Amino acid sequence: MAEEKPRQFVGSTEFKKGLEGAITNESSISYVDGANGKLIYRGYSIDDLCQGGGGYEETAYLLIDGELPKRAQLEAFKKDLAGRRAIPQPVKDLITQIAPNTHPMNTLRTAVSMLGCLNPKEFEVTVENDLDIAMSLTAQIPTIVGATQRVRRGESIIDPDPSRSLSEDFMHMMTGKDPDPRTAEVMDMALIIHAEHGMNASTFSAMVTNSSLTDLYSSICAGIGSLKGPLHGGANEATLKTFTEIGDPATTEEWFSAAKAKKQKVMGFGHRVYRAYDPRAVIFDPVAKEFAERAGTGHLYEIAKKLEALVVADLGGKGIFPNVDFFSGVIYNAMGIDTDMFTPIFAVARIAGWSARILEYLPDNRLFRPRAVYVGDLEAQYVPIDER
Ligand code: ACO
Repeated sequence: MAEEKPRQFVGSTEFKKGLEGAITNESSISYVDGANGKLIYRGYSIDDLCQGGGGYEETAYLLIDGELPKRAQLEAFKKDLAGRRAIPQPVKDLITQIAPNTHPMNTLRTAVSMLGCLNPKEFEVTVENDLDIAMSLTAQIPTIVGATQRVRRGESIIDPDPSRSLSEDFMHMMTGKDPDPRTAEVMDMALIIHAEHGMNASTFSAMVTNSSLTDLYSSICAGIGSLKGPLHGGANEATLKTFTEIGDPATTEEWFSAAKAKKQKVMGFGHRVYRAYDPRAVIFDPVAKEFAERAGTGHLYEIAKKLEALVVADLGGKGIFPNVDFFSGVIYNAMGIDTDMFTPIFAVARIAGWSARILEYLPDNRLFRPRAVYVGDLEAQYVPIDER
């Protein structure tokens, strides 16, 4: 057995892998009530925001500004965002060049980086300038993602139409078609429920990056990079791939037994904070049924429900339940959206949460700088290279 090294620099706080339970800051932006399966943005439940009729823009305003907008404020905010949706030609050229051969999250990260290169005020780190950049990115990320989907399908890029709402225009820029009212409503709801979620990995990555007082583009690129991973936002793609791999509802049990035997995690289940059903999965479940039936992909929903029953029976006692990524893929798939585009849709929404958190932290910024417990040698003898 390897000799156990003395542990150095333990510090005064309890160490848990993955910063479990660690507190990073104080915030009034959102509350993830993990025990009761509730998600609150600035005091309002996501259910009320989804049903309220104010759309994604209302939620983005609420998250960034802190209050629900009055009608005139919302109209002004929508107009401001709509006027910022266009992306410069060099960014369109970049998307045309890279989108066919890389993952759309890479295209998004690179395009956001290029927007920074094109902004002469990139390095002006003030709340005012960062708010201006945040507004532009909230408006432009849907345009980048829409263009990416088009280029990947060999289609021409569609310019934004400021007369549409953000989610309608996003759908139009992706598909070239006007979404039917129900599809537009569901996409809007999807953006609302993905807009913010506490101190998750991508938000934390963006905040850590920004805490060095670097430019906001760099921080958002860090967030995009983190969101892409399969343990975080990338799970929505992985979940649909699982359903497709299972293929037939009748083979779900067999698939799950094999996954268990391999100690494989089932994508779309589990969460660091929720020990109950993720409220976003609760909202999405009936919508996934409706959209799958409508699109003739009911077997995917049936597989999802069978898998849910098996996993919850086996692991529900440990607090493992479906998370937001479990049903979203079935819905986007039924809308005709490519699987690789699911995580970018998450980013279209989450830019509001990333921005709100960064803007909240900036006025009283303090560099994030945790420590690790050192378990290595302390007195190793240096050996010259030829004598090793
Ligand atoms: N399938 C099977 N078992 C699971 C799953 C899962 N999806 N998730 C957790 N577990 C089990 C683990 O094996 C572990 O069991 P053990 O105690 O017997 O070793 C226990 O539950 C705790 O799991 P951890 O991985 O330690 O939990 P952690 O809080 O670190 O991870 C995470 C949370 C990453 C979300 C995890 O549940 C997971 O990998 N899920 C699958 C990926 C996924 O769906 N991610 C999306 C999350 S939502 C979002 O980011 C938008």
